[in-house]
Order: sequence, then C-alpha cells, then structure tokens
Amino acid sequence: MSSASIVPNSSDFPEVNASDLRKALGQFPTGVAVVTTRSLDGEDLGMTVSSFNSLSLSPPLVLFSIDERARSLAKWRETKGYAINILANHQHSLSDRFAQALVDKWTGVPFERGHAQVPILKDTAACFTCRPYAQHESGDHVLFIAEILHVAVNQAATPLIFCQGCYGDLLPREQSKTAVSKE
Ligand SMILES: Cc1cc2nc3c(=O)[nH]c(=O)nc-3n(C[C@H](O)[C@H](O)[C@H](O)COP(=O)(O)O)c2cc1C
Repeated sequence: MSSASIVPNSSDFPEVNASDLRKALGQFPTGVAVVTTRSLDGEDLGMTVSSFNSLSLSPPLVLFSIDERARSLAKWRETKGYAINILANHQHSLSDRFAQALVDKWTGVPFERGHAQVPILKDTAACFTCRPYAQHESGDHVLFIAEILHVAVNQAATPLIFCQGCYGDLLPREQSKTAVSKE
C-alpha cells in the first residue's frame, strides 16, 4: 500500500473549527504556572501559562509559549532569566491575577528575588530557575525554550490543575475512588 493512500492530502480537510479545537485541547489536563522575569528596563513581569512542558533532560530544558498579543511579549523576548512557578492548588487567585493584563500585577504578592533579579513566588509547588535557550515564532505564539539552572520542589504541595477551561484538584487514584464510593 502506498503512503499516498493512507495519508490524505491536507486539502481534503476542512479548516479546523476554533471552538472544537479549544474544547479538544481542554480535554488535556495541565498544571498551571506563572512565568516571571525582570525585564531589561527593570519591570517585574509575570504571566499565567498552561503551555509549560518538559522538553529535555540533558541538557535540562523546558518550554512555554506566549501569545503574540501579550502586552509584555517584547520584553520577554530580550530578558536574561526566567522563573517558572508551578502553582499549588490553593493558588488559583494568583493564576487569575497573573492572567489579567494589569499594569501592576504585583501589589500584595509575596515573592523573593532569584537569578537575574527575577521575582520568585512564595509557597508554590515547585519552581524552575532558568535562562533563555531558544525562541521560535510559531503561528500566533512565540515558543520559549528555557534551560534549567536550579530546581526547588515542595513535595507537600498538591499542584493546581486546569482542565476543560476550569481549575480543578488533583486527587490520587485511591482517594478519588474513595470519594466516588462515598457519594
Ligand atoms: C489557566 C491559564 C493558562 C494560560 N496559558 C497561557 C499560555 O500558555 N500562553 C499565553 O500566552 N497566555 C496564557 N494565558 C493568558 C495570559 O495569562 C494572559 O493573556 C496574560 O494577561 C498575559 O499577560 P500580559 O498581557 O500582561 O503580558 C493563560 C491564562 C490562564 C487563565
């Protein structure tokens, strides 16, 4: 059988429906991270992302992507360091805060400074301190690949989950069985 008979020509597909695409992507649960940096002109930046993922163990690389419409994108493209703060399940209000295009997202937010003066959020489930490795313009987002310099993990914390457009809690399998059987 020739490969032509099993791989349809791309022109055979109608355009992907944006609403269906969002719904299908929402079936893939993710954690929630706030990526933070200090821009070259001294502004603290932070943005909620669910596009964080692991990429490579050696060298240790992770990735996230930023929408080309994000107010802060130009500054992200030239910064010298990032922190990827993995939110714990009690931190959904931080996620909401850093998902808004506010001029000041930082008032009242507890943080300390790390590598390259980058703000590091407190009480998160984990934090990756990184430096830029590569950037790729991909469709309507810019893909940031970051090299991990340092890892901090709070194993007592449970990560915040984002799925089907909503926040959720991670229940270990045994606990979720118990929760279901109690209903
Ligand atoms: C759960 C969640 C996940 C998000 N993931 C991303 C993402 O991966 N990339 C992105 O560009 N925006 C993402 N956003 C939206 C940004 O956080 C939001 O547009 C933010 O205001 C951009 O910041 P800025 O405009 O101040 O630069 C997400 C929002 C939420 C609530």
